[in-house]
Amino acid sequence: MSNFLMNTYKRNDITFVRGDGCYLYDTNGKPYLDCLAGIAVVASGHGNAFIAQAIADQSQKLTHVSNLFSNEPQLALAEKLVQTCGFGKVFFANSGAEANECAIKLVRKHFSPKKYKIICALGSFHGRTMASLAATGQPAKWEGFAPLLGGFVHAAFNDLTDFASKIDDQTAAIMVEPILGEFGVIPASDSFLHGLRELCDRHNLALIFDEVQTGIGRTGAWWAFQGYGVEPDIFTSAKGLANGLPIGACIAKDSFASSLTPGSHGSTFGGGAVICRAALANLDYLETNKLVAGADDKGDYFRSQLVTLPQVKEVRGRGLMIGCVLANPVAAKINELALASGLIINNTSDDVLRLVPPLIISYEQMDSAVATLNNILSEV
Ligand SMILES: Cc1ncc(COP(=O)(O)O)c(C=O)c1O
Repeated sequence: MSNFLMNTYKRNDITFVRGDGCYLYDTNGKPYLDCLAGIAVVASGHGNAFIAQAIADQSQKLTHVSNLFSNEPQLALAEKLVQTCGFGKVFFANSGAEANECAIKLVRKHFSPKKYKIICALGSFHGRTMASLAATGQPAKWEGFAPLLGGFVHAAFNDLTDFASKIDDQTAAIMVEPILGEFGVIPASDSFLHGLRELCDRHNLALIFDEVQTGIGRTGAWWAFQGYGVEPDIFTSAKGLANGLPIGACIAKDSFASSLTPGSHGSTFGGGAVICRAALANLDYLETNKLVAGADDKGDYFRSQLVTLPQVKEVRGRGLMIGCVLANPVAAKINELALASGLIINNTSDDVLRLVPPLIISYEQMDSAVATLNNILSEV
């Protein structure tokens, strides 16, 4: 532990020094099977040689030129992202919260000055910056930060009637995660997301999906909305995009994207050459190794095994974004014992364990995680 860091995280007393595929190694050389992947980030695995080579090559060639000029990896990554969804234009930021800030500013600018309100879900998590915090539907996270940015209204997740009831003349957008991640891996129902699309069409609102956690193949499609068959007007990405390097992206349909003009938004580091090259290599790696479709099959298998464990009441999620609901409020204890046994997962609440492993996880590694959890859950 450090005396030199602000105390903003409930950190475990472990320092990792090395990673290899789905394994992390601490200062004593102890291996840990990583079923958290830096919280749904390291999709292509730790120490990925293909991505490392791309980063090394780019960092020697060109690192930074500012956004007053173009750099090749940024142009290529924007084109690649548009190919994954089939529409839109991209703005590059440095994190999920920043990608959401772009989406929020974009709808404000688009509908300015008439409409500015955004309806978000209770239980949602959109980030820690002031706008993304106000969008986040968890009052506990707002404590001590008043006054929050205005214009955000919250409605019950998966409750279309509640969302519809919150729309007024000043509503500009609806913004949701297709699967609530930080709130316990709760998937939207099909009818909810389709219903939101209909509401947005009927009332001329932008539909924004926060795919920061669900995106980049985690749910078995590039984007979770593709699995639902519901297209947003704007969506955001971050976590899995560059396999652990800081990046965020906001992708918007042309009719919305055109509302941002030179000088209206920007970022010094957003879209930097090294990060974009890393993201391109990551997407290439995921594609070449068929890891996106693989996440669907692996997720089905993992869930089918996890649901047989003692004390597991329900297993939910899509692809390799998995929440195990326990019959008792022992998730923190299970998490602690798993870590001591060399398995990294986390708990989003007293009774939910979250597993979001690298998409490269093997069937043997999933079996090993299940065996470890079986031992622990049988005893606690
Ligand atoms: C759905 C979602 N949106 C936004 C964020 C914020 O991303 P970042 O921590 O990169 O700012 C997160 C982070 O957990 C998230 O899960």
